[in-house]
Amino acid sequence: MIEPRPIVRAESLRKSFRGPSKGFRRGHAELRAVDGVTLDVMPGETLGLVGESGCGKSTLGRLLLRLYEPTSGRVYFDGTEITTLSQSALRPFRRKMQIIFQDPYSSLNPRMTVRATLAEALRAHSLVGSSSEEEERIAALLRRVGLRPEHMRRYPHEFSGGQRQRIGIARALAVSPSFIVADEPVSALDVSIQAQIVNLLSDLQQELGLSFLFIAHDLHVVEHVSRRVAVMYLGRVVELATSEQIYENPRHPYTQALLSAAPEPDPHAEKRRLILEGDVPSPLDPPPGCFFHPRCPIAEKGLCDREVPALRRVESGHEVACHLA
Ligand SMILES: Nc1ncnc2c1ncn2[C@@H]1O[C@H](COP(=O)(O)OP(=O)(O)O)[C@@H](O)[C@H]1O
Ligand SMILES: [Mg+2]
Repeated sequence: MIEPRPIVRAESLRKSFRGPSKGFRRGHAELRAVDGVTLDVMPGETLGLVGESGCGKSTLGRLLLRLYEPTSGRVYFDGTEITTLSQSALRPFRRKMQIIFQDPYSSLNPRMTVRATLAEALRAHSLVGSSSEEEERIAALLRRVGLRPEHMRRYPHEFSGGQRQRIGIARALAVSPSFIVADEPVSALDVSIQAQIVNLLSDLQQELGLSFLFIAHDLHVVEHVSRRVAVMYLGRVVELATSEQIYENPRHPYTQALLSAAPEPDPHAEKRRLILEGDVPSPLDPPPGCFFHPRCPIAEKGLCDREVPALRRVESGHEVACHLA
């Protein structure tokens, strides 16, 4: 069987930010937010991206959309390298790649009606002609995300958090994208609302054949929507596998700890109870060897504190970056 071409491919992607000053004339520390990530998002799949706050998830998402310029590495969209394209050459790709933000309130302009917000997205890519055509398009978008056409005359503050996130989703869908980065789209919502939004994204993905990078800090949020899951730690992918493999047979001690820390009632939790000790090390001063070794319950001296483990295949479709997995 021939594997289809990935819709998005990241190759050895790195992004460093300038850290705080190290003192007079000593320059700035380097903060490696994304430290050599290679991964594919396949057409029509949702790839979950999970890890603690600060591990580089949003930075990776923005690199894939070229909202950030990488320090090194490449991004391909449907086979075309987009890392080197000029802004004008990038324009047709912009429409195909959209983002949904964590906090729909701060990402929606409070002075614009829903209609104006969605019309702006459509006009930016010259996707509508007459005003009646525009109105029809907007009404259809609102219905598609579970809102009503008459909602278009309202302002963001007139909606609940879940409804605002639906507006954010409608705005992303307006331009008929093929790839969407959903950056913690439910983290700011009440737990009771989270499942509704996750289900909506999952329905849209199936109906429209979209591809998603679905970012979350909690593994259980992405469990049911993701075909595959990537677990990130301090800027690196430490485990990448199908959802079943990740949840049934997590191989990296960090993934195991994340799963047992999750609040979901879990019959297997007792036998793999593994508590994360200590804090996440700073990306300004990461430890040598495996970045996880200072918190790892099984780390071996002389190996894990010296050698960086490469991501390697442990079974079909299952990759782990751990010397001992
Ligand atoms: N624009 C920026 N300038 C400097 N540092 C940044 C910037 N954006 C993110 N960082 C740093 O990069 C690291 C990764 O951040 P981020 O990608 O936002 O992580 P996550 O989304 O997983 O919480 C963090 O240490 C964060 O402080
Ligand atoms: Mg983030």
